[in-house]
Amino acid sequence: MTQHQRLLIIDFGSQVTQLIARRLRELNIYCEIHPYNRVDDAFLASFAPQAVILSGGPDSVTRPGSPRAPEALWSFGVPVLGICYGQQTMMQQLGGLVESGHGTAEFGRAFVTPGADKLSILDGWFTDGNEQVWMSHGDHVSRIAPGFQVYGTSPNAPFAITADVSRNFYAVQFHPEVHHTPKGAKLYENFVRLAGFTGDWTMAGYREQAIAQIRAQVGDKQVICGLSGGVDSSVAAILIHEAIGDQLTCVFVDHGLLRKDEAAQVVAMFRDNYNIKLIAADESDLFLGELEGISDPEVKRKTIGRLFIDVFQKYANQIEGAEFLAQGTLYPDVIESVSFSGGPSVTIKSHHNVGGLPEKMGLKLVEPLRELFKDEVRALGRELGLPQSFIGRHPFPGPGLAIRCPGEITREKLEILRNADAVYIDQIRKHGLYDDIWQAFAAILPMRTVGVMGDGRTYDYALALRAVTSVDGMTADYYPYTHEFLGETATRIINEVKGVNRVFYDCTSKPPGTIELE
Ligand code: XMP
Repeated sequence: MTQHQRLLIIDFGSQVTQLIARRLRELNIYCEIHPYNRVDDAFLASFAPQAVILSGGPDSVTRPGSPRAPEALWSFGVPVLGICYGQQTMMQQLGGLVESGHGTAEFGRAFVTPGADKLSILDGWFTDGNEQVWMSHGDHVSRIAPGFQVYGTSPNAPFAITADVSRNFYAVQFHPEVHHTPKGAKLYENFVRLAGFTGDWTMAGYREQAIAQIRAQVGDKQVICGLSGGVDSSVAAILIHEAIGDQLTCVFVDHGLLRKDEAAQVVAMFRDNYNIKLIAADESDLFLGELEGISDPEVKRKTIGRLFIDVFQKYANQIEGAEFLAQGTLYPDVIESVSFSGGPSVTIKSHHNVGGLPEKMGLKLVEPLRELFKDEVRALGRELGLPQSFIGRHPFPGPGLAIRCPGEITREKLEILRNADAVYIDQIRKHGLYDDIWQAFAAILPMRTVGVMGDGRTYDYALALRAVTSVDGMTADYYPYTHEFLGETATRIINEVKGVNRVFYDCTSKPPGTIELE
């Protein structure tokens, strides 16, 4: 089995810790993020990292009881890079001094100038004399630890970059992982090279290793997998199928809330192209029947979630000897976050998934994508031979068109919505915009408006078009189409889709809006 080199990121709770992992994965370095309070000396020994990065964090090392790196780290013998809070705890633990305030806080853009000596992790830096970095610190190091030397200073951080080269300890006050530190990725690259990483984390290697792991976990037992038609569950299914063939059965539930021709496309892809055992269950009457008369968004979501679990369970029960449930869980879903506030966050929307099923049915989980970020799942999909047109598809929510149909859902509205959405997406593809947009869709509004077509009066539905750019769906901006594009698209939709006589474009970002309308 392929074993790759490992880097450990100890998380002190910074908002941008995940970005450190992203920058490293882009360099084909395998890394994991673990919260500081889970990383003790024993964990460190068993994880056996080849290098360690200490993240930033919101606490102050001057506060008694504040987070620390495990003591064993300092004699572990691998390179360590401390960032912001990580730098400060490194200094404090190794005999330096950190102080609060005194007007030396720095937030935002700053420029670092080089020290007298060169430092290998700064290769490629300072080509214009200084380097832009992104700072975000209230505390500052006022005395560096014995053995450390200064390699870069900024106006408010005389110890912006320090290192003890003999022990391979490096410390920076700024955040190299954010885009506002333009040469941050280079700094990480230099750091991992000096730590001896060869960049052995590739999707070809991962595929081989994941297949071996799935075989070892599942043995000769049966696995069921809920397919949504989205990229994650599809890649998971194809990978598992490659590992165990006919021991996998996929269940695809058509809840009547899919896009035009979507059910047929999913069935064709999995059954015909990949020869995967597939139960395609048309349960649209059940879902649409139960949704009749419901207009409250949360009730809609809960109804769909409940029915989905019931239906899935019904079909799963037909698969004799099923002991495992496959899920397309991704790494961002499993990173245990460091919570300083403690309290539960407010529910904006209840997301629909098959959570709760495994316990209810006594199933064990197979989650072959648990270590991957979304773009790595896409890369794995390409590695497995999935067509780019499928891999690059915009996300589609579990509750489907239900949440793009504010107010009561009717078959008539769904039909209009499907047709309009198809024209809209066709327009986007024709104009070559599909890959620039994170997600685009039409929504049918709960109103009719008056229009005139030919010589007659119309009284038809109004549509909202939505298109956003985003990185992770957490925040989003509306897509700046040209007026020509919007005009042409509105005309096409009204001409080609019966039942629509008015088209709006949604210019709301997230926040304050959400991406979906409900
Ligand atoms: P919102 O509307 O919350 O959506 O800004 C953010 C992203 O999540 C998708 N979404 C869902 N995905 N089940 C899903 O699998 C859901 O219940 C769900 N609700 C929203 C949405 O399409 C967008 O990509």
